[in-house]
Amino acid sequence: MSEKHLFFDGCDTVALAQKYGTPLYLVSLSDIEEKVRQLKDAFTERYENTRIAYAGKAFLTKGMVRIIDRLDLCLDVVSGGELDCALQAGFPPERIEFNGNNKLPWEIDLAIKNGVGRMIIDGFHELDLIIESAKRHGYTVPVLIRLTPGVSADSHDYIVTGKKDSKFGFPIDSPALFETIERAMDSEWTNLLGFHFHIGSQLEDNKVYLDSLDIVFDLLRKLRKEKNFAPKELNIGGGFGIRYTEESNPKPFDYFFTPVMEKIENFFQQEKLPRPHVVTEPGRSLIGEAGRTLYTVGSMKEIPGLRHYVLIDGGMNDNIRPALYQAKYHVVNASKFDEEPSELYTIAGKICESGDILAKDVLLPPTKPGDILAFYSTGAYNHSMASNYNKIPIPAVVLLYQGKDELLVKRQNLEELHQNDLIPKLVQEL
Ligand SMILES: Cc1ncc(COP(=O)(O)O)c(C=O)c1O
Repeated sequence: MSEKHLFFDGCDTVALAQKYGTPLYLVSLSDIEEKVRQLKDAFTERYENTRIAYAGKAFLTKGMVRIIDRLDLCLDVVSGGELDCALQAGFPPERIEFNGNNKLPWEIDLAIKNGVGRMIIDGFHELDLIIESAKRHGYTVPVLIRLTPGVSADSHDYIVTGKKDSKFGFPIDSPALFETIERAMDSEWTNLLGFHFHIGSQLEDNKVYLDSLDIVFDLLRKLRKEKNFAPKELNIGGGFGIRYTEESNPKPFDYFFTPVMEKIENFFQQEKLPRPHVVTEPGRSLIGEAGRTLYTVGSMKEIPGLRHYVLIDGGMNDNIRPALYQAKYHVVNASKFDEEPSELYTIAGKICESGDILAKDVLLPPTKPGDILAFYSTGAYNHSMASNYNKIPIPAVVLLYQGKDELLVKRQNLEELHQNDLIPKLVQEL
């Protein structure tokens, strides 16, 4: 133990790097618990008929599934793989909600066979598949329909999903939406509960949620008049922004939920209808700041007058976000945490891509090969987006809790890396 080092959830990060090797993802259970408590305080504890479904795409492993279960949350999955992970970890299927813009027949079947709690319909064709599967399994499926309200959210284009020109959901005025609503209302195999929207990710302004609600309310008025339909459930998605760097401006949960719930309650009061169950689907805001990644500094390269590169033992394989969305991170030298940051460095990975730069122009104390660097707020969309490009194994994930540490995911080894490779006869006979 040394005061010089960075501590995370009561653990010395440099000692963790020595014990487990680097790159290494760290996840703090205390931080997850704290974020969930904050969200419950602002939402489920404050309003009746509400539910939180953690968006597994942000970070999902069997251990994480158990944590979500123990914290009494529901789980949003978007693929057969995420669903299988949840089921294998023993998560109750009735608390699973299935999103995704092109669910495959086998994925739909796996979900319906297991009696998942909600299917979020994303296209007309998908509804056919759901009905066929529901008939086969004799299960009337509770469904919501995903809408794209057409508001523009102030976030990176790749993580904005609620605008009209989107591969997700149905624009409010699309003829296919009305056909889907009619079909889902008429079929004895689907129980249409209501609607879902998810506007985008890393959002810092509540206005986009409120504007989306206005648009959804227009649709609800129309449906009430024309089809006598009143929703029992409304899912407002996730997307709440977190702190990545000093420039981030994240807001507490009640900044979003107070006006959103007020608006929803007012609308249904005016319409003289019971307020539907309200669901939120956050990923990043529950796990993002609970994660950090450790790297070991290898070579350093100074290009005089231009840049001082610090080369680390990971890169875009374990954190694709800087290359994909120009995402920025707060970085510290965990070995010299007590020293003043005084030198400007650019941190580059070891992947054979010039775009493999994890952080440009960050201030660190004078840094040397062998030092441990820590990237903050890497809990979401890092491990879940990791790849084996350049045949590099995916790092381990260690769970921390008040000074204790335990593996959540083992580091991939070289054997596992090639375990699906075959040398076909055609090749052997060459
Ligand atoms: C449908 C849906 N729900 C929830 C989320 C979670 O978003 P976030 O992690 O920003 O809260 C996403 C993220 O893309 C999504 O597409």
